[in-house]
Amino acid sequence: MRKPLIVGNWKMNNSTAESVDLAEKLKKVIKDMAGVEVVVAPPFTALGSVRKAIKGSNIKLGAQNLFWEDKGAYTGEVSPLMIRDLDCEYVIIGHSERREYFKESDEIVNKKIKAALRNKLKAIVCVGESLKEREEDKTMQVIESQLKKGLEGISTLNLIQGEIRNPKSEILLTIAYEPVWAIGTGRNATPAQANEVHTYIRKLLSQIFNEDIASNIKILYGGSVKLSNSAELMSEKEIDGALVGGASLEAESFTEIIRSACMV
Ligand code: PGA
Repeated sequence: MRKPLIVGNWKMNNSTAESVDLAEKLKKVIKDMAGVEVVVAPPFTALGSVRKAIKGSNIKLGAQNLFWEDKGAYTGEVSPLMIRDLDCEYVIIGHSERREYFKESDEIVNKKIKAALRNKLKAIVCVGESLKEREEDKTMQVIESQLKKGLEGISTLNLIQGEIRNPKSEILLTIAYEPVWAIGTGRNATPAQANEVHTYIRKLLSQIFNEDIASNIKILYGGSVKLSNSAELMSEKEIDGALVGGASLEAESFTEIIRSACMV
């Protein structure tokens, strides 16, 4: 059974004070929610303060990006070690905004995934097609290429935290299917559209790794997830949770999305 996972990607929003305020509100309302894992990914500047604010709660911390080297002369970058140092368990890699605005290629995504795994950070790897690619019927082709290039040279062993045969061992990889045309547009993929791509991703994962591993990797949907569509999306068999942008910036809407995942 894959436990639902809801990740709030705050992107480049919120001052430190606003981040702490949001984290504290969330901490209160979700303290009794079981059966779902919740992660917040504040901007780097607020990670330290949010870490303190969520201490002792069931909320986990994620970073929105990382650099692939552990340290050195890379002005302005943040390393996996620094992220770990702040108790981040997760890191988002290859978000479409990074691919688009910062020209992150699949090769860069691959280096970042390797850096995350090497440092035992759980990588949430984003893939997704543009509107043009969907209209040209290239969705599966794009997903396959992003996934295979992104995961090149990564073995089953790299993915496991702990003993490979221990059923409690955690997998350090999560995939987020985020169609670019659905991000921040208010226009989400239909549950059927998303489920179709998720099914394909799982098939690819079983080819890249093996069926056992593939069946334990969570596949999240992202792109205009909100209260009005989350329950329906979450009820699809292959949708294991959500990567939420805009709707994660308010405690009320994010909480309701989390609640909808608990009820599946
Ligand atoms: P959105 O963003 O929920 O605002 O569409 C999702 C994401 O970019 O992860």
